[in-house]
Amino acid sequence: MLALGADSSPEASSYFPSAAAYNAGPDGYLDLIVRARAALEIPVIASLNGSTVVGWVDHAGLIQEAGASALELNIYRVASGAAVTGPEAESDCVDLVRAVRARITIPLAVKLHPHFSAFGALARNLHQVGADGLVLFNRLYQPDIDLVRLRWYNDVALSTAQDIRLGLLWLSVLSGRTPRLSLAAGTGVEDAPEVIRYLLAGADAVMTTASLLRHGPDHLSGMLARLREWLEARKFSSVAAIQGLLRDTHPDAEAHQRHAYVDSLIGYRGPYVPGDVGASTRLAGLV
Ligand SMILES: Cc1cc2nc3c(=O)[nH]c(=O)nc-3n(C[C@H](O)[C@H](O)[C@H](O)COP(=O)(O)O)c2cc1C
Repeated sequence: MLALGADSSPEASSYFPSAAAYNAGPDGYLDLIVRARAALEIPVIASLNGSTVVGWVDHAGLIQEAGASALELNIYRVASGAAVTGPEAESDCVDLVRAVRARITIPLAVKLHPHFSAFGALARNLHQVGADGLVLFNRLYQPDIDLVRLRWYNDVALSTAQDIRLGLLWLSVLSGRTPRLSLAAGTGVEDAPEVIRYLLAGADAVMTTASLLRHGPDHLSGMLARLREWLEARKFSSVAAIQGLLRDTHPDAEAHQRHAYVDSLIGYRGPYVPGDVGASTRLAGLV
């Protein structure tokens, strides 16, 4: 996936590595869209990365003029300032989507990280100001600490199939509740089983980055073949036949989810067995 790495204020931008080094800069990106459209028969969805309204929203218009079939707006912001409240962080997102919507007529999807307190209302508000779809979720960049050198290090830790559960939960809760808002699932898709799970939970589309970085673009055709096999083996005639089959349709999803949480704790049978002295060393990976 490609994006324009830009932000509104010079202060914020000064922390970024050069956008040009990452993705050939704004002009290079527009040129890429033109070339992709000329070379491909499938729709080309462009991606724009920003966090506040000022400065770069015009670029959305240029992306449309370059021929993009749709735009995914990646709102990547860690609202870490003590003065920034949750409602402010949310209304900034809504303002940004409203501003981008005012510049373009092509379909607009919004990709967000999952760390908002009340995602249902945010989803509805984003839809009201013009988002046609949401991508659940982007992953927050999470650095790690090198215990030998005692320093932070910056690397990309690719997602694994274990990472789909948060997206599954939110898809199941949100899908079907905001009519005409499309939901794409976008974390932890390693192979067909994750695609199927996301579809069952209610995804309208499923996206993958990590699996393609791990296995290369040909992985996609294998994934599709395995999805087809799974559907055929269970006599489902199409993807649409399983879409949303297991979404949370409970009238009080909040109570339902709390119930499920309590049930899961009651049912927990962990790996620790009292009296099994080898368990802790096995868990620590020492034997
Ligand atoms: C190396 C790398 C580069 C990425 N670049 C972008 C980007 O330019 N724009 C964007 O919106 N997301 C970008 N992402 C985020 C992915 O599109 C995706 O949302 C995230 O990796 C979760 O999906 P996954 O679990 O399939 O990797 C990038 C991810 C990786 C690993």
